[in-house]
Amino acid sequence: MKVPFVNLGLQYKNYKTKIIKAFDRISSEGNYILGKDLLKFEKDFAKFCGTRYAIGLGNGSDAISFSLLSLNIGKGDEVIIPANSFVATAWTVANTGAKIVYADVNNDLNIDPISVKKLITKKTKAIIPVHLTGKICDIDELIYIAKQNKIHLIEDSAQSVGAEYKNKKSGSFGITGCFSLHPLKNLHVHGDGGILTTNDKNIYEYINKIRNHGLKNRDECEFWGYNSRLDNIQAAIARIKLKSINKINNRFRKIARMYNNELKTYFEVPIDDDNRKSIFHRYIIKYSKRDKLKKYLQKKGIETKINYPIPLHKQEASRTTNFKKKSLKNTEQLSKKILSLPIYYEMTDKQVEYVIWQIKNYFKKH
Ligand SMILES: Cc1ncc(COP(=O)(O)O)c(C=O)c1O
Repeated sequence: MKVPFVNLGLQYKNYKTKIIKAFDRISSEGNYILGKDLLKFEKDFAKFCGTRYAIGLGNGSDAISFSLLSLNIGKGDEVIIPANSFVATAWTVANTGAKIVYADVNNDLNIDPISVKKLITKKTKAIIPVHLTGKICDIDELIYIAKQNKIHLIEDSAQSVGAEYKNKKSGSFGITGCFSLHPLKNLHVHGDGGILTTNDKNIYEYINKIRNHGLKNRDECEFWGYNSRLDNIQAAIARIKLKSINKINNRFRKIARMYNNELKTYFEVPIDDDNRKSIFHRYIIKYSKRDKLKKYLQKKGIETKINYPIPLHKQEASRTTNFKKKSLKNTEQLSKKILSLPIYYEMTDKQVEYVIWQIKNYFKKH
């Protein structure tokens, strides 16, 4: 049996009729940019997250960049981010001119508030917690730290559409929530895309302009901006999929439960506590001989990945971001043990059982 890491082609089949219909309608109208499909998706997404506003963007990275710019963060400022994340959490900070300050992570791979506390200085302007793998961070503690120190929380919600903590959704805790609609995310479009949530009217108005060249109307430019709009066709696709996001996330959660029940005797598995509802964008186990297991599973037709093998502070690019080199023990240790197993909506129970069976076989031999 073959178990790929994801299967986007299969997902298309499920939505094909609706997507083609939307494509045909929008193409016939010729209304591709900043049209009513985008407005509708933004309205639906804000409602889904429980925020006042949502703004569709070209990608999730721009959601972070524009959040930082909207808060006037730049040269001379410091921004704390977890050292275990995708590179976009880092370069968006570096490109504003602000200094990246890397915090260590907890065993659940999310930013450690104790590490954050130690890193706050007079120059700290924001913390960017990443709800990695679709699990909400220790957000109560982070909100408390941010309030105490009068700094902003920008949620990197790229991997966590629909994830909850105490019945509140990802993207509704910080000054902004930054979502990616990249094809590998639970809610995704057919190319690049992103969306930002906020309750702040001023930020909403600023980002509405910055994503559209800085224009305040067709002819008048208030400030130099960017071209980063979620186009109408992508917004229509996202809106179609948003309607089934709970079903999609529940399938991820069911697969995670199947894995957890069978694999918890072999290694540490990701378990939610009572208040959290993770969406398992990634299902990550920890195992000291993970490279060996990875190779074994590859031979059995099972594709796995490592999210992420190189911590951000160890990336070559970090040399140029005036970062004081220091060791982040948990992040570095975890990066050597983590392994992401296949998990996606279209994965069948048979495929999940096959992965479990092969892992059990591996342990019989090792
Ligand atoms: C944690 C995290 N932050 C930011 C991003 C950037 O999103 P995008 O690729 O849509 O720019 C991603 C995904 O790629 C991500 O996983």
